[in-house]
Amino acid sequence: MNWRIKPLDEILATAEKKSLKRSLGAFQLTMMGIGAIIGTGIFVLTAEAAQKAGPGMMLSFVIAGFVCAVAALCYAELSSMVPVSGSAYTYSYAVLGEVIAWMVGWALILEFAVAASAVSVGWSNYFVGFMERTLGFDLPVAFTKGIYAGGFINLPAAAIALLVTGLLVLGTRESATVNAVLVSIKVAALIVFVILAIPVINGANFEPFAPNGFLDTSGLGIGVAGAAASIFFAYVGFDAVATAAEETKDPQRNIPIGLIGSLAICTVFYLLVAAGAVGAIGAQPVADASGIALSPGSEAFFAACAQEANRNLLACSDEPLAHVLDMIGWAKIAQLIGIAAFLALPSVILMMLFGQTRIFFVMARDGLLPFHETLSKVHPKFGTPYVVTIITGIAVTIFAAFFPVGVLADISNSGTLFAFLTVSVGVMVLRVREPGRHRPFRTPLIWLVGPLAFIGCAFLLFSLPMKTQITFLQWTAAGLLIYFLYGYRKSPLAGRK
Ligand code: ALA
Repeated sequence: MNWRIKPLDEILATAEKKSLKRSLGAFQLTMMGIGAIIGTGIFVLTAEAAQKAGPGMMLSFVIAGFVCAVAALCYAELSSMVPVSGSAYTYSYAVLGEVIAWMVGWALILEFAVAASAVSVGWSNYFVGFMERTLGFDLPVAFTKGIYAGGFINLPAAAIALLVTGLLVLGTRESATVNAVLVSIKVAALIVFVILAIPVINGANFEPFAPNGFLDTSGLGIGVAGAAASIFFAYVGFDAVATAAEETKDPQRNIPIGLIGSLAICTVFYLLVAAGAVGAIGAQPVADASGIALSPGSEAFFAACAQEANRNLLACSDEPLAHVLDMIGWAKIAQLIGIAAFLALPSVILMMLFGQTRIFFVMARDGLLPFHETLSKVHPKFGTPYVVTIITGIAVTIFAAFFPVGVLADISNSGTLFAFLTVSVGVMVLRVREPGRHRPFRTPLIWLVGPLAFIGCAFLLFSLPMKTQITFLQWTAAGLLIYFLYGYRKSPLAGRK
């Protein structure tokens, strides 16, 4: 088989020809990383993690953070060597060949686009909470939730996804500045949460620590490992930094700083927030009559949460951080946290959509997508890839309107984990194949960190619910079909030896 590896030098040359504006520096990139990382994961999925793992979710946060850290170290090496848009997709093209690159690019669509949908749904939770808590309006469930929770369509989620798409069409520079303000709000909200929740920690709330055990045997993705696979979502986004390489000044230096710096800052916050949430109000899951935890996002779960006895559980909350503060007597501050999430989560949607459109743009530029001439058009005035942005935005809107946040987050994680896994292989392959090539950033202890990233990603991938794994396989199969029907024949590398 011809693996069609695209030479690195050629990738760098293509990027020079059809390129985007270089305007981002190290600080902006770190802000961009934090902007993309802190979001629905910590603000909303903390509840899902409680349902899956109980207080043991703290361990889940540690595991997921660790896997992300080793993956980020691998990412940083490749992204500093191949400082062009497209992140894992481009790196795989240069190292592992076209078909793997295509599979990675295809998986990244799951990562970024579905993540944008998930965060839109998370935002909608806080929007609804804001309307109720702060303005006293009860919005009808029919228009704020999908069928899964007894509603019909999630209109706020759809609206925010469309709005953010519009912002992105207008341009990166403006979006990055707005992002910096929103990041400050979000970080302030987490700091306030930690300051109020940590002092009221009650040791009894940590018992039993892992009511659903560690490994999942049910296929539902519960237990500490299952929660780690879900809460992994909270860390995703640092790679959005790498997708902006072509728009970065001195990417060799700035990309690794942006990636690793943003991840480190967020990890510290998450561990404190998780400890505060569990310790302040407890985190026991909702179980069925036989004592087995219900799968979050299922109809049975929503029905159980609607019962009076379960209503105040962390696991049942749509806006867990605001809920915790409410429960410990800080109702006004809870409102403010809600407003902060409401204001700041759109920046995460922005980063996810941004990453997605840049990957699409590069795949189109490489000629692997049908209608690639149209898709890779750059707007004459705004300098943005507006065609792919609009198409992606519409898809993201539809998913946000009809699916639950946890299910979307899990699907997104499957794509991300696959991409990270490939990057960890790529970095090791390139060390062997081209040991002499200049590496502005070298992954420390690569023969330890690389295998750990690989094993960690694989472990989390297999800890996701069985349903998610099947969806991922179906998505990959569809992608391969498209590749062999279109990309394989049309690729500029077709026919080369
Ligand atoms: N890490 C991002 C979030 O939690 C995707 O919303």
